[in-house]
Amino acid sequence: MTSQDEMQIGQEKMNPRRGKMIAVCSAKGGIGRTTLTVNLAVALRKKNISVAILDGDFQFGDVNLAMDLKNSLTIKEAIEGIVTLDEHNLPDYLTVHESGVRVLPAPERPEFADLVTPDAVQKILDVMLTQHDFVVVDTPVGLNEQTLQYLEKADQIHVVTNLEMAALKNTKLFLETLEILGLRSRSRVVINRANMESVINAIDAAKILSEDNPIYIPNDFQICSQSINLGVPFVIKHSKSNVAKGVFKMAELISSENNVSPIKIKKKNSPLTKLFSKKRT
Ligand SMILES: Nc1ncnc2c1ncn2[C@@H]1O[C@H](COP(=O)(O)OP(=O)(O)O)[C@@H](O)[C@H]1O
Ligand SMILES: [Mg+2]
Repeated sequence: MTSQDEMQIGQEKMNPRRGKMIAVCSAKGGIGRTTLTVNLAVALRKKNISVAILDGDFQFGDVNLAMDLKNSLTIKEAIEGIVTLDEHNLPDYLTVHESGVRVLPAPERPEFADLVTPDAVQKILDVMLTQHDFVVVDTPVGLNEQTLQYLEKADQIHVVTNLEMAALKNTKLFLETLEILGLRSRSRVVINRANMESVINAIDAAKILSEDNPIYIPNDFQICSQSINLGVPFVIKHSKSNVAKGVFKMAELISSENNVSPIKIKKKNSPLTKLFSKKRT
């Protein structure tokens, strides 16, 4: 172990939480949480920063489908090993997607969700946060105890809606509840399918939701449904599409707001390089 490694471990002990937690939630199901979680994580990863996903929907999570991950360990196995889980053995439980995003999927069967306790989730997230710049959590729909645990812990909460009346009505209630809970200041509305046909346009929707700085994600049902069905995030396969551009913009905003930049590997300067750089100045 080099002295630099020792110093890093020392720093992690003093300040173990390195990464930022992003929760992706919604008042209504089928609105784009999984689509955005997966594509946002890959878009962040493309910036050369370390990113993990926790599929927080332990009953019906489908991040593994959206990323075509097979035979991966899940949170069930992580919980079985929770006593000894630490930053050293965490990678054993995570499945590395081709993009480099590391994923802890939901259990294979809904009944396994009963094994998941809040303390265990807390520990898993804490360990994940020591190892990644971002941990993106795809939360269950609505405001249940599980979702609240994520929202309370998150650094940024992204509340996804679309322009349908039912979605807007429930999103408004959702945001009001976040306000009561003191969580509104770290929440932002994401208007998904923002240019879809609707009686309400995206700008008015933002006004209805009293959101000053929403994120708009364009509508592209064909690309999105194909991407989720094939298990290939559209930011990889359709990176030039408008919907991908929307997600890249979201990733840019999130990384700049959280002040995370790619990990730079310091190269040792040779005496010659030093000499030349001195000459230039
Ligand atoms: N920006 C978008 N444009 C068009 N269709 C979308 C968009 N985002 C998501 N969808 C579609 O909406 C459906 C639900 O998305 P999903 O991510 O599974 O929602 P959730 O996780 O909230 O239940 C999927 O068929 C998906 O392809
Ligand atoms: Mg989902």
